[in-house]
Amino acid sequence: MTESMEEYCQLVRSVMEARLDGKTPLAFTHTYGCQGNVSDGERINGMLAQMGFDFTDDPEQADFILFNTCAVREHAEDRVFGNVGALKHIKNRNPKLIIALCGCMVQQQTVADKIRASYPHVNLVFGTHVIPRFPELLYRTLTGGKRVFELSQDDNTICEDLPVRRDGAFKAWLPIMYGCDNFCTYCIVPHVRGRERSRDASRILAEAKELIAAGYKDITLLGQNVNSYAVKNSVSTDGEAWNFPKLLREIDRIEGDYVLRFMTSHPKDCTEELLTVMAEGTHTAHHIHLPFQCGSNRVLKAMNRKYTRERYLELVRMAREKMPDISLTSDIIVGFPGETYEEFCETLDLVREVKFTSLFTFIYSPREGTPAAKLPDPVSHAEKARWMKELLSAQEAIAAERCQSMLGSRQRVLVEQVDERDGRLICRTRDNINVWCEGDAGLVGSFAECEITSARNWVLGGTVLMRNS
Ligand code: SAH
Ligand code: SF4
Ligand code: F3S
Repeated sequence: MTESMEEYCQLVRSVMEARLDGKTPLAFTHTYGCQGNVSDGERINGMLAQMGFDFTDDPEQADFILFNTCAVREHAEDRVFGNVGALKHIKNRNPKLIIALCGCMVQQQTVADKIRASYPHVNLVFGTHVIPRFPELLYRTLTGGKRVFELSQDDNTICEDLPVRRDGAFKAWLPIMYGCDNFCTYCIVPHVRGRERSRDASRILAEAKELIAAGYKDITLLGQNVNSYAVKNSVSTDGEAWNFPKLLREIDRIEGDYVLRFMTSHPKDCTEELLTVMAEGTHTAHHIHLPFQCGSNRVLKAMNRKYTRERYLELVRMAREKMPDISLTSDIIVGFPGETYEEFCETLDLVREVKFTSLFTFIYSPREGTPAAKLPDPVSHAEKARWMKELLSAQEAIAAERCQSMLGSRQRVLVEQVDERDGRLICRTRDNINVWCEGDAGLVGSFAECEITSARNWVLGGTVLMRNS
């Protein structure tokens, strides 16, 4: 932590103490959106802990409420507006409550303006570039007598040296870069997250070592496009040239019992070198999340994705050649402006050809300020929903087939949690496939060997045979 941040943490601590007559302040925080945002949320929680806060799951009990928001689709934003509106009643009952909004959604000026005008019970709004200044901003909110809006942009911000309060005890997010320079025409992320910047490799390696030494078993390296790690800015204090495959190889070399993952990998920058490092690694999962978005070359061009269907299929072929057991997952957008049913069928075809483990599928959502939002979009939402249904049913058949093929096999899994509904253990294979297992709850957080004993549609069931860590 920097000195001034530490000072502001102390200042907030004293102000809160006086404000609540010595009672420990309680924070309720909620993060929407991607793992990158979750990772920011863990750092915000780290700073809150440093400022003397405890945490609660009940907003009614909280002295401080924060929503860390996402702007990627309209639906994500609608949920936030709904939930912020509902806080008005809590604030009426507890006028001392401080309400804050941060994250991608509020980085948009139009959204910040709407909050200023229509949500007067929100006290503090800060953007994605000023997260390290959160203690100072909270201090200003508590003492300045007026609402604080801080959306300034600084494209050099890298959240180094922030305290972090991780959500999990054995799964960890490890950001390696921030921002995005790709400007896919439908996407708001580059507009709200700023330019691409990579963390110093030595800092990432040190954090990975700490996590492994602390017993973390599942580490995911994060970036909007991890494949362009270190391409834009020099990231080494040791004078070496870095790229993502090299970073992955170096982390993989750290000794310990853990699985190493990464996301997201943009197909335009996915190289044979990366696939080789994955195949040769000791800890790296044989799983790649490689979003193709759409199977039509015309639409891919309109999306500014900078690869073709053929190049994508070539990457899949290469990945399977090097790792026959590789699990592939992807993101798909259905109904990009101007997409025809025939073009959508090319997506369907690609899904049937590749046979992904699972898919994240989205109906196109126009985002203000992006080029795609200005394109004519003649296909109705109802029609797009029909295409989506077709896509989902194709994927369900593929997933069911894959599940059947795993029946009777033995898998090494990480036991992640107990399913509250039926007491079974929710486990994850190294290839990122969930299995619901009979077994002892004491195994949560450890690796285990399990046998797959049932495959109902796309849900795998099994029995834990023994602990394996
Ligand atoms: N950086 C990642 C994606 C991050 S956003 C990548 O390029 O792969 C996660 C996913 O949200 C995207 O892959 C895309 O499928 C979806 N998405 C982004 N903008 C969208 C929009 N305007 N409408 C619908 N889906 C969108
Ligand atoms: Fe958005 Fe494209 Fe950047 Fe991914 S690579 S965050 S889809 S602009
Ligand atoms: Fe959403 Fe921002 Fe992530 S828009 S998907 S939280 S980078």
